[in-house]
Amino acid sequence: MTTAIIGVGNIGTALARHLVRGGEPVVLAARGKSHAETLAQELGPLAGAASVDDAIAGADAVVFAVWLETIKGLLATHAHLLENKVVVDPSNPLGFDENGQMMRTLPESQSSGSVVASLLPAGAHYVKAFGTIGADALAGGANRQPRRAVLFYATDDDVAATTIERLIRAAGFDPLRAGGVADAGRIEAPGGDLQQFGLGGELLDLDRARAAITAKAAA
Ligand SMILES: NC(=O)c1ccc[n+]([C@@H]2O[C@H](COP(=O)([O-])OP(=O)(O)OC[C@H]3O[C@@H](n4cnc5c(N)ncnc54)[C@H](OP(=O)(O)O)[C@@H]3O)[C@@H](O)[C@H]2O)c1
Repeated sequence: MTTAIIGVGNIGTALARHLVRGGEPVVLAARGKSHAETLAQELGPLAGAASVDDAIAGADAVVFAVWLETIKGLLATHAHLLENKVVVDPSNPLGFDENGQMMRTLPESQSSGSVVASLLPAGAHYVKAFGTIGADALAGGANRQPRRAVLFYATDDDVAATTIERLIRAAGFDPLRAGGVADAGRIEAPGGDLQQFGLGGELLDLDRARAAITAKAAA
């Protein structure tokens, strides 16, 4: 299985390092090919660099580690390449205003996941994952001892669930399904109760993560 990572910024770089360390082949793409090439060279033989088109075409799973507006732009031109592929979406409903300040770009009631999922072809296997904790925590939280930290994911698709569980484990975390696409907002920031910052900044182990999923329903 090959995983394309589109975007090699904070999230894409941390994820690429973890997946390669976990034995997963990755193909990296970014706006400028040199960023992807530099990281691929550093990561060694399991990593390659390609254009966005070629990275998607050659992959079984595609992680869009770019901002929501960029995902929307890329899907406008590349959605047809995603038939039968697992599409992994770490995006939050965030962007930047004219002063460079980060701002929410969707209404409170709308998740980034619902927007991205709606833009995919029917045969794509959508899952929200890998954006549920901050990039620093993602980079530093893998293979935690004595108990691994959980990464939540959300999907309605069993193919996507199987693939993301494999990738989350390879990356050094324990996977836990938070629900379907309708629940994606629970693992997005700002506002998600299962997102790292909705959990007071903590990374949970499996027992506490399972309890957190049901806590809201019980409240
Ligand atoms: N940072 C966090 O703590 C965090 C936490 C949770 C979720 N997220 C989500 O994760 C996503 C990525 O965040 P980030 O912090 O990793 O972003 P980032 O550091 O700004 O990196 C963005 C990457 O996107 C690439 N890119 C931009 N336009 C592109 C295009 N048209 N085609 C291909 N690649 C393009 C850039 O390429 P170049 O390198 O060539 O410029 C860069 O590698 C966002 O949706 C964010 O909401 C971030």
